[in-house]
Amino acid sequence: MKSATFTMIRPDDWHLHLRDGATLQAVVGDSARQFGRAIIMPNLKPPVVSTDLAGAYRQRILAALALAKLPAGAFTPLMTLYLTDNTTAAEITRAAQSGFVYGVKLYPAGATTNSDAGVTDLLGRCAQALDAMQEHGLPLLVHGEVTDPAVDLFDREAVFIDRVMIPLRRAFPGLKVVFEHLTTSNGVDYVSDAQGPIGATITAHHLLYNRNAIFQGGIRPHWYCLPVLKREKHRLALIHAATGGNPRFFLGTDSAPHPRGLKEQACGCAGCYTALHAMELYATAFDSVGRLDALEGFASRNGPAFYGLPVNLGCITLEHTAYEIPQELPMGDSTVVPLAAGESLPWRLREAHA
Ligand code: NCD
Ligand code: ZN
Repeated sequence: MKSATFTMIRPDDWHLHLRDGATLQAVVGDSARQFGRAIIMPNLKPPVVSTDLAGAYRQRILAALALAKLPAGAFTPLMTLYLTDNTTAAEITRAAQSGFVYGVKLYPAGATTNSDAGVTDLLGRCAQALDAMQEHGLPLLVHGEVTDPAVDLFDREAVFIDRVMIPLRRAFPGLKVVFEHLTTSNGVDYVSDAQGPIGATITAHHLLYNRNAIFQGGIRPHWYCLPVLKREKHRLALIHAATGGNPRFFLGTDSAPHPRGLKEQACGCAGCYTALHAMELYATAFDSVGRLDALEGFASRNGPAFYGLPVNLGCITLEHTAYEIPQELPMGDSTVVPLAAGESLPWRLREAHA
């Protein structure tokens, strides 16, 4: 028999898009209710390319938390820089010494939302920055998809491993690398077997759904994200990795809010909004294979261990009670549609205690 509640160490989100301005104000409370910390993605317009910009963005996040009346210190944003062809070693050193930058994000140019300033030739253009990151122990957070239009959309992660990840890690064997939002069995195999300091985040949506979800009964833009949902065999490989106890795999929601109108149009944006119900979604995924016992390692312990941080002090409690996902939520002068809007999940977050 299932127990009615499940209490665990307060988790962290190691991959989160908070955006800026009114959107930031609208969404920040959702993450803060569930998570102690989050790695904040730098793909703003313009992108967060320097330590100064990251510091200013951090202040805006802290101000949004205060305005949302969240208790001080309840949620800590861990900032990142956006790697470009022009990122200098000196900038990396500034970031590493700032005390608030915890990673540097690699977006291959054109790979996803707001990635136009991304890297065109990683080893050719960024060697000095990578060298400085390796020296300072500052992790490289990788959007692991090639952008070559000749490569099938569903194969872009697998091809990235051969074309970029393997040469990168051969050239910088001491560099800490996070393979972000892993979506394929190829990625799981690579991360499981690789030598040296590597980790990977896995989203709740890639654990719960396969690519059929995008097309069920018609085209469903709120299920479209990058990397795109894959075949069932890949979902099963991700479930196996997330619940298998290997500390290299940890939680990263990739919650990516877009105004409703920008998703529901002829060319809709990529990104699923999951910050609202992240732990409900992850608990549902783990419980689906009877492995709720593995959730704390994945969500609360493995990420801090990789980043060299302590685990959170508080706890959260999940209740085995139906949770109805709202149809939409206010966001600035628009709304955001959470993933699986209108559906019901078997787990609900009860409370966060300090
Ligand atoms: C992200 C976004 O909207 O910023 N979208 C997404 O589909 N995940 C960008 C990203 O992380 O790829
Ligand atoms: Zn992302």
